[in-house]
Amino acid sequence: MVERQGGNVKGKRVHRAVAWGILGAGLLALAVHGVVAQAQMRAPAGAKIDAENKTSIPEGFREWPFLGAPLTPNALNDGKAGFPEFHYVYIEPAAYEHYKKTGEFPDGTTIVKELLLTKAGEHPDGSRDEVSGRGYFPDSFAGVDMMVKDTKKFAETNGWGFFNFGHKAPPYAASAAALPNDSCAFCHTANATYDMVFTKFYPILGKPE
Ligand code: HEC
Repeated sequence: MVERQGGNVKGKRVHRAVAWGILGAGLLALAVHGVVAQAQMRAPAGAKIDAENKTSIPEGFREWPFLGAPLTPNALNDGKAGFPEFHYVYIEPAAYEHYKKTGEFPDGTTIVKELLLTKAGEHPDGSRDEVSGRGYFPDSFAGVDMMVKDTKKFAETNGWGFFNFGHKAPPYAASAAALPNDSCAFCHTANATYDMVFTKFYPILGKPE
């Protein structure tokens, strides 16, 4: 009897040890997975802001994920659209990855909007005929605007710094300083659809309203 009880106790101990072993291995796997996931969430590598809140256009931004291309033709805006004419919008890749996982723009997110003029119009509304139909067609590069999220540095402009590198053909300005609230941020604060960004124009971001 005593021996059997002893055997049982021993058996239970073995079972428990095996159970702890499995649990431990599971926890370890989870921890490793967590570390890997953390490592995969790379920090955004966009624009670097200096002590005077100046920055430059990140190299290679035309290879970043493309968010969309709103269009404000000059011919439909009394010849002077605020941002003529196509607006090609790109987001820094690590910030985009982060957004896809969390639905949030992390600090350091850089969004570049490059302006492109349309090919010369043939109709009063600035449109022209091409083999695909009547419409507006991209022509030449014509300027860069940029937003960089830094909730501490740019608290006064709702967490984002706004930069204008000129609305003209390249070469663009080598550097630009963050602009005051009444230049840019006020309008994004009043009208943008999610965290200062007009996400409603970028279906890839999955926030249609
Ligand atoms: C009168 C309102 C208004 C002002 C002022 C304004 N923006 Fe915007 N901005 C918009 C709108 C609307 C969009 C999206 C649609 C578009 O591009 O036409 C946009 C888009 C952007 C984008 C692309 C990301 C996004 O939020 O969609 C950047 C970058 C940007 N603006 C930078 C600037 C900068 C830099 C300035 C100041 C030099 C500025 N904006 C001033 C209205 C404004």
